[in-house]
Amino acid sequence: MKQICVVGVGYVGIVTAACFADLGNRVIALDISEEKIEGLKHGEMPIYEPGLKELVDRNVFAGRIIFTTSYAEALKGSEFVFIAVGTPSGVDGEADLRYVAAAARSIAQHMTEPVIVINKSTVPVGTGDWVADIIRSSQPRPIPFSVVSCPEFLREGSAISDFMQPHRTVLGSLDTDAANKVAQLHLPLRAPIVITDLRTAEMIKYASNAFLATKISFINEIANICEELGADVKEVAAGMGYDKRIGPFFLDAGLGYGGSCFPKDVKALAYMAAEKGRHPQLLHAVMEINDDRRPMAVNRLKDLLGDVMGRTVGLLGLSFKPNTDDMRDAPAITVAEMLISAGARVRAYDPVAMEIAQGLMPGVEMCGDPYQMAKECDAIMVITEWNEFKQLDLERLRDSMRRPVIVDGRNIYDPNYMARLGFQYRGLGRGYQERQNEGSPRSEFVRASQ
Ligand SMILES: NC(=O)c1ccc[n+]([C@@H]2O[C@H](COP(=O)([O-])OP(=O)(O)OC[C@H]3O[C@@H](n4cnc5c(N)ncnc54)[C@H](O)[C@@H]3O)[C@@H](O)[C@H]2O)c1
Repeated sequence: MKQICVVGVGYVGIVTAACFADLGNRVIALDISEEKIEGLKHGEMPIYEPGLKELVDRNVFAGRIIFTTSYAEALKGSEFVFIAVGTPSGVDGEADLRYVAAAARSIAQHMTEPVIVINKSTVPVGTGDWVADIIRSSQPRPIPFSVVSCPEFLREGSAISDFMQPHRTVLGSLDTDAANKVAQLHLPLRAPIVITDLRTAEMIKYASNAFLATKISFINEIANICEELGADVKEVAAGMGYDKRIGPFFLDAGLGYGGSCFPKDVKALAYMAAEKGRHPQLLHAVMEINDDRRPMAVNRLKDLLGDVMGRTVGLLGLSFKPNTDDMRDAPAITVAEMLISAGARVRAYDPVAMEIAQGLMPGVEMCGDPYQMAKECDAIMVITEWNEFKQLDLERLRDSMRRPVIVDGRNIYDPNYMARLGFQYRGLGRGYQERQNEGSPRSEFVRASQ
């Protein structure tokens, strides 16, 4: 049984801690937040993540995981120390490393025996060396340690299965022995293990996130062109996705990416490139396309309603994606701000994120269910593609609304079906539907050829 300390019990840290415990290790999960640690000691999870509570409870019961705010307690006997603290965007888009630095200093001050410090936070290339310098200079007396980079690739909403069945484990270190020891920890996951130097491992994380964000912006650009040319981006993406060189993932046109990773990681990579005198054109285009999505959806609504001044708009979904309560850089926040500043009244419903969202969106009225939200609404915007929204009783929703207008920011409904139900419905990138509605010669041609 290995003893592991995990520093930070946020989205990544608590999942890492619970999963390593479930693999049979003894885990001490540490956070500076008394509130989160107290909550965990009483069985309350700091985040919403499917399956997490059951996993934590099982391992607490088995005595494999404990929670603390004390670095001295957490480091005593720990051979491995994972840093999983936040690295938010700084002022110019560079990663803010103050939490990583504080964690490194605390580790240095409280370690009493050799440890392997493993960086799971997404950190700029070169941070591993910098963390080693901080630890070395903050130790009261020299104790050997190694730094290994082990970037995390889990997705919120499916974090446990992503952790337990990763596509690969990436490890970076100049200390082969330390990297091999960390590799041993990951062997039960039975995934390919890529061992590189520190900086290359750190770069793999940024390059991966930037690539996925690029796919999203690519399909959104295609969506814009589809609208002009009368094609349906959903079908285009499906047709592209069967090609194994392309793959079906991250090709959903809509409101664009948000959340705690893609926006800040693309920005941070562009910042790193610019600092070295490079002009990362593609990354800038990816960000620009993404920035356009939210205003574009709001403008679509304005087109349908004439004006939103004095109108009531319902937001279906608030979290930045389904199966999480994470509201960091969620499109809902921007959309609500735009609507409110244009004079609209905004109501919203989300299955799990309303409590967190309320603090961030004080002007928005939270509702108990989608039908209650629809009451008095002149329009609804679909913001998050929660599965439960795909199964709504749409006739009931329509009858609850003042006007049956829907802007579907995630393209979850079938435009033809929505039109048959009497909705004034607009998705994003569904030009074929537009042409059909207009009854243009081209749509006649397409229908005739089907
Ligand atoms: N959230 C994701 O889906 C995801 C996926 C992959 C990688 N990452 C990366 O993982 C890192 C963590 O992300 P997150 O979403 O889990 O962050 P988070 O904000 O949810 O959690 C960070 C936690 O660290 C704690 N913390 C801060 N300073 C501390 C200190 N000095 N000592 C102990 N605890 C401290 C905070 O209290 C908080 O609980 C980031 O670098 C992020 O980019 C996140």
